[in-house]
Amino acid sequence: MIQWFPGHMHLTQKAIAERIKNIDVVIELLDARLPGSSANPMLAQLTQGKPALKVLNKQDLADPERTALWLAHYNALPGMRAIALDASMTAPAKALIAACHELAPNRGGLAKPMRVLICGIPNVGKSTLINTLMGKRATKTGDEAGVTKLEQRLALAPDFYLYDTPGMLWPRIIVAKSGYNLAASGAVGRNAFDEQEVALELLDTLRTHYPSLLEARFKISGVAQMTDEQALEAIGRQRGALQGGKSINWQKAAEIVIYDFRSAVMGRISLETPQEYAEWLAHGQTL
Ligand code: G4P
Repeated sequence: MIQWFPGHMHLTQKAIAERIKNIDVVIELLDARLPGSSANPMLAQLTQGKPALKVLNKQDLADPERTALWLAHYNALPGMRAIALDASMTAPAKALIAACHELAPNRGGLAKPMRVLICGIPNVGKSTLINTLMGKRATKTGDEAGVTKLEQRLALAPDFYLYDTPGMLWPRIIVAKSGYNLAASGAVGRNAFDEQEVALELLDTLRTHYPSLLEARFKISGVAQMTDEQALEAIGRQRGALQGGKSINWQKAAEIVIYDFRSAVMGRISLETPQEYAEWLAHGQTL
């Protein structure tokens, strides 16, 4: 089980509630490979009634079919829009500005500038996206009235402000499977999880949904019929993760599986669909 509960949670929650009062659109950056698990359920409560834009980042790593399911899921919800992008690409990032104008059509112009708050769990790509959006034109204006010291106000256009409060959102793990998916994606610090446990859970997902990618990457066959342990052992043997020349080095084998998933060398993989995530919430092991 993944345990990661930072101590500053309460304070941050209050900070979000305060901040949201004067915000027109709340952008939540999600990891396209695990949109449900990388979302913060508390944010949804705090931002109720505010137009919301879900940005599924790292779409270049995610399974396009599953990304389409998530986009349809979010776009069907009232007051919500969703787009998928790769934070390092300029043109798709600009689609985000257009989506905000659609969500808050009454805002714009110098008298009523668009005020957008951007949130996302660590490592989801917020800095990358902000750097892309800022390009050359935008300027940091963090020292103006109403902007806290820690906060940045970025003027993407004269009438479009993006507020970023670093460290404002944390992963809040409410079902066990989400914890494993967050750990597999790299969102949780190294010391907060057991690589072997995470690799076995990851293999469970991969054996069920992406057996051919797994088999091609590790040159093994019959993964659907294996147990997760057998799959990890086969991968370890294939990749020479051995100790004493013979027995499996489980830790090394686990690290290989996690690393290969993160770097997308197996292919574009997503760890959850909207339906699966809803089922985990309804029936899964809650924490
Ligand atoms: P953060 O501010 O939300 O904490 O995340 P940050 O932008 O630092 O991004 C975290 C990692 O994710 C970085 O990789 C970054 O390059 C990568 N990343 C961000 N957006 C995308 C995306 O859309 N697609 C892909 N493939 N990767 C993305 P890193 O390994 O930590 O650093 P580096 O590789 O940039 O050196």
